[in-house]
Amino acid sequence: MTKDKVLIFDTTLRDGEKSTGATMTHAEKLEIAELLDDMGVDIIEAGFPIASEGDFNAVSEIAKRSKRATICGLARANYKDIDRCWEAVKHAGSPRIHTFIGTSPLHRAIPNLDMDQMAERIHDTVTHARNLCDNVQWSPMDATRTEWDYLCRVVEIAIKAGATTINIPDTVGYTAPAESAELIRKLIATVPGADDVIFATHCHNDLGMATANSLAAVIGGARQIECTINGLGERAGNTALEEVVMALKIRGDIMPYETGIDTRKIMNISRRVATVSGFAVQFNKAIVGKNAFAHESGIHQDGMLKNAETFEIMRPEDVGLSGTSLPLGKHSGRAALRAKLAELGFDLADNQLNDVFVRFKDLADRKKEVFDDDLMALVYQNDSGEDRVKLKSLRVVCGTEGPQEADMVLEIDGTDVKTSATGDGPVDATFNAVKALFPHGARLQLYQVQAVTEGTDAQATVMVRMEEEGRIATGQSADTDTVVASAKAYINAINRLLVRREHSSPGYDTKGVSYKDN
Ligand code: KIV
Ligand code: ZN
Repeated sequence: MTKDKVLIFDTTLRDGEKSTGATMTHAEKLEIAELLDDMGVDIIEAGFPIASEGDFNAVSEIAKRSKRATICGLARANYKDIDRCWEAVKHAGSPRIHTFIGTSPLHRAIPNLDMDQMAERIHDTVTHARNLCDNVQWSPMDATRTEWDYLCRVVEIAIKAGATTINIPDTVGYTAPAESAELIRKLIATVPGADDVIFATHCHNDLGMATANSLAAVIGGARQIECTINGLGERAGNTALEEVVMALKIRGDIMPYETGIDTRKIMNISRRVATVSGFAVQFNKAIVGKNAFAHESGIHQDGMLKNAETFEIMRPEDVGLSGTSLPLGKHSGRAALRAKLAELGFDLADNQLNDVFVRFKDLADRKKEVFDDDLMALVYQNDSGEDRVKLKSLRVVCGTEGPQEADMVLEIDGTDVKTSATGDGPVDATFNAVKALFPHGARLQLYQVQAVTEGTDAQATVMVRMEEEGRIATGQSADTDTVVASAKAYINAINRLLVRREHSSPGYDTKGVSYKDN
């Protein structure tokens, strides 16, 4: 049977990055964009170019480096936004401008436009975008709470003005599957010119229905799904890419559509996005959660041993997991490590492999068995050597009688400095030592410890989120010693904040979207 193609539009770098605290560095954005392109994403929404110099530079650089994917930037419904967006995306082999305006009664009230004035604005801005770029996407924000007749009217205007993709956003996660399908069906059936454009669906997960609503929209006729890796996104997040893609792959019998995604690359990018965004994936998350392919109960294990299909509807290998665990220990060599990393989806250059090998040997000396997750943590450990602040040594004295004491040596801009600090517990003492050596005004927003493997010798992954004058940075590190992991994660966050200080352009609100005229 020939299957209809559904385009995958990834907005991890734009809508996903809007999650509170999920800001990524320039280098991280380029890396994620490359992984998305490699896995077969059709359109990458790389950012909101007018939001800041940082966003503009990231979108331009992603556009310049793009290989196969269309690179899209977001713009509000005004000429200045659209021009800036074009300046950034025009470098791509295949550029797209995505312009939007809120069309529901609540959103129309913000710029204080009546229905006719808004219709005129849509006509003018889509025409302007189309004069710059052949590929224009238009979105009526909060479409699912817009009067359907008015929605049909403005969609027709956008199509006539030259939009090539019409995206229907469920901005606040309000719709439900039957309605989602019905709305797309109605638009396609009634709007003149609908057959000449692609309809897209863009859902948020406020009621936990984003995946179902997106698939229902496809059944209703949409041929582009907008989504993010791990469902990253504002509030409850966006539709998760891995969920819709795997649902279409596994249930082709009732949903005869295909995507161009190489699903074996899903786990790797999921882990990378979790690391750079600081948003850990919940253990029982569909497709990419740690437990998604784990079977613990006796009955399940028994069934799995007899026939994996008893309790598994997809093969772990299809999402990039190694079905079996190859134990690596201190006697393993470089070749075994390289083979294992390749199996996990990492293609490291020789010098990177050497660095990981040194860390691997160090860990294997302290730990009986090194598991897949341990290796991931080692690969992602941030020791690029470019950080301004580095941990040289740490000794913490603990006991039942407080306060705890931390003796620390840091290298700051190439010079070693040391101190002793006390605190309410070993982690507090450690953080106080960092503060004494590198005074800063950043506030600790979140401190989270996760054991990535089992046992008392497990590696702990620590994540900290810090905030300084509205800038947020997350730091992450892994070590068998939780306090050392905490110190490194804290220092990692500080280094990221320092980078952000240099790149931020104060005064521009990148989170809220306001309707300002030119
Ligand atoms: O959720 C939304 O409405 C959006 C638009 C900008 C497409 O992200
Ligand atoms: Zn959105």
